[in-house]
Amino acid sequence: MHKVIFDTDPGVDDAMALLFLHRHPEVDLLGVTTVFGNVAVDLTTRNAQFLHREWKIPAPIAKGAGETIDPSRRDDRAASVVHGADGLGNIGVPEAIDWPLDPRPAHEFIIDTVRAHPGEVTLVAVGRMTNLALAVKADPELAGLVKDVIVMGGAFDVNGNVTPAAEANIHGDPEAADLVFITPWKVTIVGLDVTMKTIMSADYLAEMVEAGDQPVKLLSDLSQYYIDFYRSRVGIAGMAVHDSTACVYLVRPDLFTVRSGPVRVVCGGLADGGTIQAPDRGRRFVGTPWDGQPSQWACTGVEAERVLEVIRAAIVESQAIPA
Ligand code: BDR
Ligand code: CA
Repeated sequence: MHKVIFDTDPGVDDAMALLFLHRHPEVDLLGVTTVFGNVAVDLTTRNAQFLHREWKIPAPIAKGAGETIDPSRRDDRAASVVHGADGLGNIGVPEAIDWPLDPRPAHEFIIDTVRAHPGEVTLVAVGRMTNLALAVKADPELAGLVKDVIVMGGAFDVNGNVTPAAEANIHGDPEAADLVFITPWKVTIVGLDVTMKTIMSADYLAEMVEAGDQPVKLLSDLSQYYIDFYRSRVGIAGMAVHDSTACVYLVRPDLFTVRSGPVRVVCGGLADGGTIQAPDRGRRFVGTPWDGQPSQWACTGVEAERVLEVIRAAIVESQAIPA
């Protein structure tokens, strides 16, 4: 069983990832922490409450950061063009949802939960890395207590999706992401190199709805705006299932190719939010900001069709596809 804290900014693809984690038989979802990103944190939190209520997800929700870790930085890139003004495809989520919130801020919830299960918890972070960065700043020993960190973010050998250099989750809080990557815990970075290859077509989702129950129908309804964005603005017939792909890495890492080496984030300037790895194999550099930093793992390849099957099996049948 994988004990997981899911750090998220719902978000359409976040919603799919949440249903995946909730239904996957090998995942024990200990909690959900929210962060600003696709929309403001009040809305991402409200969306998490909505999804928990609709999908009867018992895991607690803790509200997290609403701004970047460096207060002098402004994140003014609204993603409403991608996810809708409400963050869930403009399906008409009620303004307030009567569903409990954990009283602790997200980073405290993360610290307490990891300390309650030392060495057992995987943090799966699919929004800005702000909550994780706040957690390690407040409790540096956390790095030695977490089992694994898996993040959706970054773009290594491909362009970004906010600028040519930067992917949204990293671009939205570069200093936080850099801190997460240089912390001595194991981070696997599931970035655009693989998520832009993992495209779920509208037909594939429609077949899931045919075979599935009401929660799958809701997932499909809230995904239509996002599918339309990918069709009209990106020129893709389907949707990139970024956050679910990161969740699949948790249960089926064998479907990915990874490359090791320290990762730094460009903080400021033309390539703000860019992710650059100094691969452990190959040319050696001396006297650079990568020196002495821990090796992390960047995904460079993916068996995309099989990842989609793993997502479908979990969401529609609550089943795991064994390696
Ligand atoms: C990431 O940014 C957000 O819009 C998505 O939810 C995903 O986590 C993709 O760049
Ligand atoms: Ca997300």
